Amino acid sequence: MATNQTLRLFVVFFLLHSLTYSSSLSTKNIITDKDALLVLKAHITHDPHTLLAKNWSTSTSVCNWIGVTCGVRHHRITALDISNLGLTGTIPPQLGNLSFLALLSISDNNFYGSLPYELAHLHRLKYLNFNYNQLSGNVPSSIFNISSLQELSLKHNRFSSMVNVSGGGPNLMSLDLSENLLEGEIPSFILECKQLQFLNLSFNNFRGGIPKEIGNLTKLKTLSIGDNKLEGEIPKELGNLVELESLLLPDNVLLTGQIPSLLFNISSLRQIDLTNNSLTGDLPHNMCSHHHHPSMLEGLNLSFNQLTGTIPYNLQQCRELTNVSLSYNQFRGHIPRDIGNLTMVKVLYIGGNNLTGEIPFEIGNLPNLEELGLESNNLVGHIPATVFNISTLKILALLNNTLSGSLPSIIGFGLPNVEELSLSRNNLTGKFPSFIINASKLQLLSLDSNSFSGFIPSTIGNSLTSLEFLVLGQNSSHLLLQS
Ligand SMILES: *[C@@H]1O[C@H](CO)[C@@H](O)[C@H](O)[C@H]1NC(C)=O
Ligand SMILES: *[C@@H]1O[C@H](CO)[C@@H](O)[C@H](O)[C@H]1NC(C)=O
Ligand SMILES: *[C@@H]1O[C@H](CO)[C@@H](O)[C@H](O)[C@H]1NC(C)=O
Ligand SMILES: *[C@@H]1O[C@H](CO)[C@@H](O)[C@H](O)[C@H]1NC(C)=O
Ligand SMILES: *[C@@H]1O[C@H](CO)[C@@H](O)[C@H](O)[C@H]1NC(C)=O
Ligand SMILES: *[C@@H]1O[C@H](CO)[C@@H](O)[C@H](O)[C@H]1NC(C)=O
Ligand SMILES: *[C@@H]1O[C@H](CO)[C@@H](O)[C@H](O)[C@H]1NC(C)=O
Ligand SMILES: *[C@@H]1O[C@H](CO)[C@@H](O)[C@H](O)[C@H]1NC(C)=O
Ligand SMILES: *[C@@H]1O[C@H](CO)[C@@H](O)[C@H](O)[C@H]1NC(C)=O
Ligand SMILES: *[C@@H]1O[C@H](CO)[C@@H](O)[C@H](O)[C@H]1NC(C)=O
Ligand SMILES: *[C@@H]1O[C@H](CO)[C@@H](O)[C@H](O)[C@H]1NC(C)=O
Ligand SMILES: *[C@@H]1O[C@H](CO)[C@@H](O)[C@H](O)[C@H]1NC(C)=O
Repeated sequence: MATNQTLRLFVVFFLLHSLTYSSSLSTKNIITDKDALLVLKAHITHDPHTLLAKNWSTSTSVCNWIGVTCGVRHHRITALDISNLGLTGTIPPQLGNLSFLALLSISDNNFYGSLPYELAHLHRLKYLNFNYNQLSGNVPSSIFNISSLQELSLKHNRFSSMVNVSGGGPNLMSLDLSENLLEGEIPSFILECKQLQFLNLSFNNFRGGIPKEIGNLTKLKTLSIGDNKLEGEIPKELGNLVELESLLLPDNVLLTGQIPSLLFNISSLRQIDLTNNSLTGDLPHNMCSHHHHPSMLEGLNLSFNQLTGTIPYNLQQCRELTNVSLSYNQFRGHIPRDIGNLTMVKVLYIGGNNLTGEIPFEIGNLPNLEELGLESNNLVGHIPATVFNISTLKILALLNNTLSGSLPSIIGFGLPNVEELSLSRNNLTGKFPSFIINASKLQLLSLDSNSFSGFIPSTIGNSLTSLEFLVLGQNSSHLLLQS
């Protein structure tokens, strides 16, 4: 009796449940999710490892399918990650039915075609990663209407346009649209994504000025807009970005004007890359001593501009510097001695300027130096012997100066790591530097247009096994190959 009643109650409950169920057709459940994935599967034209073809089988639960994660509570798909499976296909609008999806990644495949508007229905989506595909057309502005979205990555596709929306991406923290074909001005709705910490728009065809309102995105840690066609000046408002760590604006050859000195006041800044623009003016001499905190700057890349003045004498106060590239500008004056105090420096390029005077011997004190380029200046005097004692050195380019004197005959470590030694077009004298014989990693050796004399050991080919380029010509006729 009791059992029958329970059974009847159960049946009633079940009927009620299915009634509620079928009465609202729009209700989505795990079947909807499964159907959406089957539509996606049908849109895949190439599946080289037959992963989906075999694994996404209707006879098993969708929650066990490869790349699928279901939530415990609602038993719905919460994550779909089919990245890097070699898939070719298009993205069907039915993906917009995966209404519990928080993560969607199809990166590193060959998906093509445009993105369906329906993705905007994914109102729980936090991470969307379509990197490294061949998607094209418009980046649907509706995506920026997903208020839960925190990370949107569309790197390396073929998107060519973006519709300007207003008030987009209230919680967007990371936006990567780099390596696409996007044109026009930097869309203003990006300037309304107030939570942005990471913005990468590099390698597109954006034109126009850098909007000064970027300075209002005060949570930004990374701003990467290099390799576009941006023009005008770098807005001084960027100095408001108090959390900024990386400012990367290389290869916008129409960027002009001075580097706003306020930028150097950002105490969190680690990387500045303004290589290959048309920036003018002097570097502020207090650029490393602006603020009360010690500078965090690690990379200062300003090569290929038209910067003038002298190299800031207090550069050594940027103690964390590892990479200093100031080549091919119009810097004049001496190389500051205190550069020898930048003990972290690995890369120091100041070639192609109008520097005069001698190479300070303190450069030989840099214990971690790997690459030193001082070529095409007006440097005179001897090459400090200490330079040849830096055991970490890989590249030494001093060509096209007026350096004189002879090279040390015996050196400490014997340049165990040197790959390039370019000393041509100077006024160097003395014997062929015999220590070179022990530089077993040497690939490029150029000594031409100097006044070396004596013999080149005939065994040179035996010991320099890595050598690819050897330029010795146009020395005084006294340099002879030993027979
Ligand atoms: C599909 O792949 C998942 C994860 O690798 C595995 O657990 C499952 O057993 C596979 N299902 C079938 C039918 O091959
Ligand atoms: C799934 O999406 C398609 C296209 O967006 C729509 O036509 C269909 O009604 C949806 N299905 C369900 C069960 O919601
Ligand atoms: C974004 O959402 C708002 C309100 O929710 C709506 O009015 C607007 O049309 C949506 N925009 C897009 C591009 O979907
Ligand atoms: C985008 O729209 C805003 C107004 O909402 C306008 O000021 C701006 O010029 C537009 N930008 C582009 C690139 O169309
Ligand atoms: C921005 O994207 C470009 C191109 O994909 C990449 O080379 C660069 O490293 C990215 N910048 C950052 C800071 O991740
Ligand atoms: C940006 O910040 C400036 C102050 O630096 C403020 O005057 C302006 O209204 C802000 N613009 C936006 C769009 O928030
Ligand atoms: C500077 O940028 C232009 C345009 O992007 C490019 O063609 C050129 O090779 C770059 N120059 C250097 C030195 O990188
Ligand atoms: C740089 O920052 C310091 C505080 O950290 C401030 O006192 C100074 O005025 C700032 N300099 C400029 C040029 O804004
Ligand atoms: C640089 O280092 C030398 C010692 O190599 C020291 O005498 C000098 O005071 C240092 N300069 C500064 C500005 O710290
Ligand atoms: C280099 O500096 C010298 C004097 O210091 C000057 O005469 C010469 O014009 C400068 N050259 C360039 C290319 O700026
Ligand atoms: C050598 O340096 C001078 C400047 O000192 C420069 O004008 C010239 O182009 C350089 N030559 C080569 C071959 O790099
Ligand atoms: C090169 O050195 C020789 C002798 O050491 C000297 O006579 C000559 O003036 C020097 N040339 C230059 C351009 O400094």
